[in-house]
Amino acid sequence: MRYFLLIYALVVVVIVGIAGTRGSLSRKPPIEVFPDMDRQLKLRPQQPNAFFPNGISSQPPVPGTVRRASPILTAAGPVLPFEDAPVNTGRLPGSTNFVELNPLPVTGALLRRGQERFNIYCAPCHGPQGDGNGITRKLGMTVVANLHDQRIVEMPDGEIFHTISYGKNLMQGYAAQIPVEDRWAIVAYVRVLQRSWLGHPEELPPELRAQLTR
Ligand code: HEC
Repeated sequence: MRYFLLIYALVVVVIVGIAGTRGSLSRKPPIEVFPDMDRQLKLRPQQPNAFFPNGISSQPPVPGTVRRASPILTAAGPVLPFEDAPVNTGRLPGSTNFVELNPLPVTGALLRRGQERFNIYCAPCHGPQGDGNGITRKLGMTVVANLHDQRIVEMPDGEIFHTISYGKNLMQGYAAQIPVEDRWAIVAYVRVLQRSWLGHPEELPPELRAQLTR
């Protein structure tokens, strides 16, 4: 115990001598126990480079390069997957507000695709009619949303797209399984289901109305 304070002071002096005080500057690199891949022989994009005739590190694609992604044809023109556009994000560009309307042109083909995808990916929980009575309700998942709730009927298309992509509370996101265009097709089909429940018999053509009352 007699030497404790002395040894303690010595240890402090040695540690501070080697490691320095917090915030002190050094021109030498710090001791690295695990350097991982901190320093690599690589070219940075904007660095000049004498190796190539044009003197830059990043070379433009060679003529005839085939691009990896094909653009999605939206009502407002073609959009590539990395662009900040409603079709990719479900939001107005540069904001967090959801887009009101589906950016894809809503055609019969899109709705049929949406119906097929909905029945594969959503109907197990939300039911083929979207009322939340899928097979999982019978198996005990009782809190599945009814897509005919007024709140969801009034929800912007972009928000439904967002729910499909990233999920909501208990529902998981489907961005990994469902490509962007199919998600919008499903959104369009969800609107079809909702519209079918909001319809009135008077809206049917007379011959179909006759069948209805039977
Ligand atoms: C594994 C079951 C499951 C599947 C599959 C599923 N959902 Fe859901 N969904 C849920 C549950 C559970 C909720 C309620 C989440 C909560 O509020 O706790 C929900 C909620 C929602 C909501 C309401 C979100 C909100 O803001 O309250 C929408 C819209 C929706 N789902 C659409 C879809 C669509 C479209 C698909 C198909 C791509 C789908 N869901 C697939 C379980 C599922």
